Amino acid sequence: MSLTRIHNLSISLDGFATGEPQSKEAPFGHAGERLHEWMFATRFWKKTGGTVGADHAFAERHEPGIGAEIMGANKFGPPGWQDDPDWKGWWGPNPPFHTPTFVLTHRPRPPIEMAGGTTFHFLDASPAEALQAAREAAGGQDVRIGGGATVVRDFVAAGLVDNMHLVQVPIVLGRGVRVWDGLEALEQGYDIEVVSTPSGVTHLTFMRKRG
Ligand SMILES: NC(=O)c1ccc[n+]([C@@H]2O[C@H](COP(=O)([O-])OP(=O)(O)OC[C@H]3O[C@@H](n4cnc5c(N)ncnc54)[C@H](OP(=O)(O)O)[C@@H]3O)[C@@H](O)[C@H]2O)c1
Repeated sequence: MSLTRIHNLSISLDGFATGEPQSKEAPFGHAGERLHEWMFATRFWKKTGGTVGADHAFAERHEPGIGAEIMGANKFGPPGWQDDPDWKGWWGPNPPFHTPTFVLTHRPRPPIEMAGGTTFHFLDASPAEALQAAREAAGGQDVRIGGGATVVRDFVAAGLVDNMHLVQVPIVLGRGVRVWDGLEALEQGYDIEVVSTPSGVTHLTFMRKRG
């Protein structure tokens, strides 16, 4: 069965997955790179060298078995990217997705085929409709919800997420976009495992209860 998965979504102690304001110079706003420093230290991120302990073991689960990704407009680019016909995402000519990748936006444009197997498709659709399109493109594999916070929240609220891995970083951002708003009692629908690692972050794994 094709699952809907979230991996490596880094949040502050107060639940923000990004700071503010987002811009081309500061994609995570005042959070800077602080939400992801735990990951930058791992071999998953560095490819050569880097730590191979618990943070790496969690991080590398991001890729196996994924056949498509869904992301929000604000992950794909800074505010206003829709006005730039040449904007193709942050990631250069060979983005790290290597699958069909669906960008939710109220201003869709034709698909963009990139090197390495990534094709960006732009969709103005409900979460359920987007998931159906991604499933069809995923060839029987799982679909990853890649963020940001708004899209994660919407897919979780719609009951579409099977497995969710968040990484709580011990910083307080105070402002930005929070993942938890509107998700009261979310824990009742999931089995949850919590593991803190020596780097100081806490990995939260939510696995949907099967009734
Ligand atoms: N902490 C992490 O691990 C992590 C992971 C990924 C991303 N991020 C960061 O999170 C930030 C982005 O998060 P965000 O919450 O601001 O935004 P987001 O979830 O990336 O995107 C939200 C936007 O997507 C469009 N959208 C969402 N649902 C839609 C639908 N059903 N149909 C059509 N359009 C839809 C809308 O944009 P329009 O109305 O403008 O089209 C909406 O404002 C970025 O800074 C990114 O770098 C963090």
